[in-house]
Amino acid sequence: MEIYQKSCEVLRYNKLTDTVHDVWVNAPDIAEKALPGQFVNIMVPGFFLRRPISICEVEKTNIRLVFEERGEGTRVLGGIKPGDNLDVLGPLGNSGFSVDRYSSAILVGGGIGTPPLKFAQQNLEKSAAVLGFRSKANVIMAEEFRNATVCTDDGSFGFHGNTLRPLERLLLERVFDVIMACGPKPMLRAVVALADKYNIPSEISLEERMACGAGACLGCACKTVADSIVSYPRVCKDGPVFDGKAAVLC
Ligand SMILES: Cc1cc2nc3c(=O)[nH]c(=O)nc-3n(C[C@H](O)[C@H](O)[C@H](O)COP(=O)(O)OP(=O)(O)OC[C@H]3O[C@@H](n4cnc5c(N)ncnc54)[C@H](O)[C@@H]3O)c2cc1C
Ligand code: FES
Repeated sequence: MEIYQKSCEVLRYNKLTDTVHDVWVNAPDIAEKALPGQFVNIMVPGFFLRRPISICEVEKTNIRLVFEERGEGTRVLGGIKPGDNLDVLGPLGNSGFSVDRYSSAILVGGGIGTPPLKFAQQNLEKSAAVLGFRSKANVIMAEEFRNATVCTDDGSFGFHGNTLRPLERLLLERVFDVIMACGPKPMLRAVVALADKYNIPSEISLEERMACGAGACLGCACKTVADSIVSYPRVCKDGPVFDGKAAVLC
């Protein structure tokens, strides 16, 4: 797959919470090729390494990126405004979530792991979503998902608790082809365990710290075990989406 490096104009900007930013950038080549689950690497002025951000949505020639301020780089990135240009490299990653292979899926998002699932849902015939956040103040994009159950750890919004009980309820009630998930590792571990219990495939998107972002440094290698064979694929090139059964979530 071709990868493009472009200076892309920021078209629209919105703040979803105190620390979560929502931007649309004009990136025709990337928009044309992007698959759900893939990401872009963004150059941040003043920093050597690019920052990986998932493609949240594609609309004609534009892509949407939703990101949280976590450290210095994303804090600087949070200062962008419409009319600015971003140096964007992408689309990156493997073929992403298998939206062509499955027609129905349960999407499980934890916090800032939610954005890439929007792109997946847009490409699925039938889906339900379970989205978990720490509290009401952290809820993002809830109204943008079809058939969504929103959960908060402290009960300040939606279902009181994490994503697992609503997920199990869906697994008991209805037949879905697959679970697709993105979020913190403890959530992903529990989602994969439930998928095993109900004998349903799962695909998980991993967020490893990245350096080169291009498959060259092995800085993002993670462990997988498939048919008793251990390997260390790179999240940036061989992922970020992996078969839940194979990924070893340390
Ligand atoms: C495939 C992928 C998709 C992602 N999608 C999103 C998204 O859609 N929205 C969002 O808010 N965040 C996303 N992240 C996490 C985001 O990349 C990090 O929060 C960001 O790089 C942190 O940079 P920083 O400069 O603010 O933090 P710092 O801690 O100052 O960063 C220092 C270095 O560590 C790297 N780094 C730090 N945390 C991470 C991390 N979690 N993942 C990868 N590299 C990291 C940075 O790139 C930088 O090189 C994604 C990560 C990956 C791997
Ligand atoms: S970040 Fe260098 S190989 Fe993935």
